[in-house]
Amino acid sequence: MEGNNKKRRTVIVTGATGGIGGAVIKALDNESFNIVAVGRNKDRLRKLAKTVKRAGFITAQADVRNEEEVIAVIKSAVREFNSLDAVVNSAGVFITGDSLNFSTADFNKTLDVNVRGTWLFSKHAIKEMIDEGRQGIIINISSGAGTHGLAGGAAYSSSKFAVIGLSESLDMEFREKGIRVMCILPGKVNTSMQSLPPDDPARKIMLQPEDIADLVVYLMSLPERVTINRVSIRPALL
Ligand SMILES: NC(=O)c1ccc[n+]([C@@H]2O[C@H](COP(=O)([O-])OP(=O)(O)OC[C@H]3O[C@@H](n4cnc5c(N)ncnc54)[C@H](OP(=O)(O)O)[C@@H]3O)[C@@H](O)[C@H]2O)c1
Repeated sequence: MEGNNKKRRTVIVTGATGGIGGAVIKALDNESFNIVAVGRNKDRLRKLAKTVKRAGFITAQADVRNEEEVIAVIKSAVREFNSLDAVVNSAGVFITGDSLNFSTADFNKTLDVNVRGTWLFSKHAIKEMIDEGRQGIIINISSGAGTHGLAGGAAYSSSKFAVIGLSESLDMEFREKGIRVMCILPGKVNTSMQSLPPDDPARKIMLQPEDIADLVVYLMSLPERVTINRVSIRPALL
C-alpha cells in the first residue's frame, strides 16, 4: 500500500521476506516510519504487503547483489517518501559445508550477498543521505560468527567478519557528515536460517526474531549524539 508523510522517518529493510527482516518491519509498523520492504521472493513480498495495510509502506523486489536494482530501490524510496533516513541490511545467506568440498560458487555467493550486498545498499544510501544533507543510520546485521570462526562455516564467518569491518570503516568515514553505521552481532536466532525442524524444542531457547527487531528499534531511537558500533546479542542459554 502506498502513502506519503514527510514527518515520518523512511527506513529501507532488506531481507524483509526473512525472519529477522520481517520482525523488524512489524516492530517499525507504526506512524513514525515509512517502510520500504526489500526482498527477492515475489510471493512473500505480496504476503507481507497484505499484512501491513497502511500508508507509508511499499515493497520492492531486488537482489542485493545487483547494483542497478539497489539504486532503483533507493530512488523509489525517495520518490515515494521524499526522504531516506535509515537502512537495515538484513539480507543474508548461510551456506555451510566442509571447506575442502565447499564450492567456489557457494563461497562467492556468500561473500556477494552478505558483504557486497551490504556494501551496495550502505554506499548508495549514504550517498543519498549526504546529498540531501540528512542525518542517517545504517544498521548492518553481522553475526556472532563475525568475531569467531565456525567449523564448516568458513565462508559465512569470513563474510560476517567483513560486515563488521565494513560497518566500522563506513562509520569512521562518514560520521562527520552525520551518518552513523551500527552493527548487530546476533547468536542463534529462530528463523528458517536454522536447519533444525520447525518444532524442535531447541528453537525455544534461541533468540527470537523479535529480540533483534527490538534492538533495531532501540538503535533507531538513540539521540543523534550517540552511536553504538557493535552490539552482541545472544541466547542466554546457548
Ligand atoms: N538466524 C540466525 O541464527 C542468524 C544469526 C546471526 C545473524 N543472522 C543474520 O541475520 C540476517 C537475516 O537472517 P534471517 O535469520 O532472517 O534469515 P532468513 O529468514 O533466511 O532471511 C534471509 C533473507 O535474506 C534475503 N536474501 C537472501 N539472498 C538475497 C539476495 N541475493 N538479494 C536480496 N535478498 C536476499 C532473503 O530474501 P528472499 O527469500 O526474498 O530471497 C530473506 O529475506 C542474515 O544476514 C543472517 O546472516 C542470522
